[in-house]
Amino acid sequence: MNEGIEQLKEALSFSPDNIPLRLHLAELMIKGFMLDDAAAQYQEILNRNYGNDKARKGLVSVFYKQKKFSAAILVYEALLADNKIAGEELVPYVKCLIKENSHNEAVEIYKKVLQQAPGFKDDEIDGILRMPTAGSKRNSFDDDELEDDIDDMFGGQEFEDDGTSYLMEKPDLKFEDVGGMKKVKNEISLKIIQPLKNPDLYKAFGKKTGGGILLYGPPGCGKTYLAKATAGEIDAKFINIGLHDILDMWMGNSEKNLHEVFAQARQNAPCVLFFDEVDAIGASRSDLKGSSMRHVINQFLAEMDGVEHNNDGVLILAATNAPWSVDSAFRRPGRFDRVIFVAPPDTEGRIEVLKQHLKEKPADVIDLAAVAKVTEDYSGADLKAVVDIATEYKLEESLAKGSIEKLTTKDLLKAAKQHKNTTAEWFSTARNYALYSNETGLYNDILDYLKIKK
Ligand SMILES: Nc1ncnc2c1ncn2[C@@H]1O[C@H](COP(=O)(O)OP(=O)(O)OP(=O)(O)O)[C@@H](O)[C@H]1O
Ligand SMILES: [Mg+2]
Repeated sequence: MNEGIEQLKEALSFSPDNIPLRLHLAELMIKGFMLDDAAAQYQEILNRNYGNDKARKGLVSVFYKQKKFSAAILVYEALLADNKIAGEELVPYVKCLIKENSHNEAVEIYKKVLQQAPGFKDDEIDGILRMPTAGSKRNSFDDDELEDDIDDMFGGQEFEDDGTSYLMEKPDLKFEDVGGMKKVKNEISLKIIQPLKNPDLYKAFGKKTGGGILLYGPPGCGKTYLAKATAGEIDAKFINIGLHDILDMWMGNSEKNLHEVFAQARQNAPCVLFFDEVDAIGASRSDLKGSSMRHVINQFLAEMDGVEHNNDGVLILAATNAPWSVDSAFRRPGRFDRVIFVAPPDTEGRIEVLKQHLKEKPADVIDLAAVAKVTEDYSGADLKAVVDIATEYKLEESLAKGSIEKLTTKDLLKAAKQHKNTTAEWFSTARNYALYSNETGLYNDILDYLKIKK
């Protein structure tokens, strides 16, 4: 190998700009444990060809091996900002952040990994970033490449088994960042924000506070986004319990974990506790006779009722695409007694959402109404996709011309042709429920949206 290295060095002295050759040299150096030398080669490439992806990825892997975590983080940030890295490639980034005690960021990136590589599982990261499973101490983390001495780096203080979850965030998002949804925002405000701000007023009118709101609707219409913005709006903490966590509870030490989630929310009040995809917990209890999931549900309902504990200052929101699968026990008074349909945005809403997503992009004066007109039934996420596609056109054009080309109405209209709405499938299912199992009028909003007479 050393011989190979010498030969490559010599070849490079004749053609120093040969990047593939230099990349190959750096790889050989890594194999030979010459980490400093490898880093120098990558740096050399980056000096000659700023932003070279392979060199950046190589460099970051060297930093990681050298335990230069903060340096690695800088490179990862840049790679991520340029969309050059995704899925499991992000796992070492998560580990670096953990080692630098950046929990919030670690959680954010880890969520990306789980989203982009749904089957991915890493017990050690889970052990650190998720709720502790009862009885299992959150332990330090071993890595084949990093067996030595990692304990003191992050087995230390902040990762002690103190029962805090690292899935807690403090969102910056505000209601004004959420386009449209006037009615929904208003309901959230009346039902959970105002009682928190004016508890005495509510008491004086004999209005019971507490309980939660269940948001339902087609995918991508902003349920999760809005829940986050609710926390940001009142400067509260935000705990997002997703499907993964719920399944963990289901399989593991569920009741205790669920209790810990609520306990943590109470301790951190004001806090928005958000159960995403709640149908996973709320599935009809009759289907689950004898299964351990029944215990989870009963525990959930007891925690929500707050019989043993006071839930003051804990705002409970949940979201689902399948409200018809949620056990009716969830909707009793004091529980999710408001069920709100989060529809695809109306014309005004679409204009707002488009505006939001165009905010920091170089754009001409755009005829938003024209774009809104051709995007009926588009979800917020669909509209974001339209803007993203249009941005890509422009980026290509700008690169070709060497100047910044602004987004135009035409680009957006063209992008809207390319990206169709993704809500139709949901509505074809929802329509049947709204027509045939709407005894309590629960799905009237769906009928209204579909303009079907009740
Ligand atoms: N009203 C809105 N204003 C601005 N952006 C929005 C809005 N609705 C959706 N979006 C964009 O779409 C993305 C997806 O929305 P979100 O994840 O909240 O949808 P969801 O209803 O929770 O979907 P799912 O049912 O698939 O979980 C958001 O991250 C946001 O970028
Ligand atoms: Mg969601």
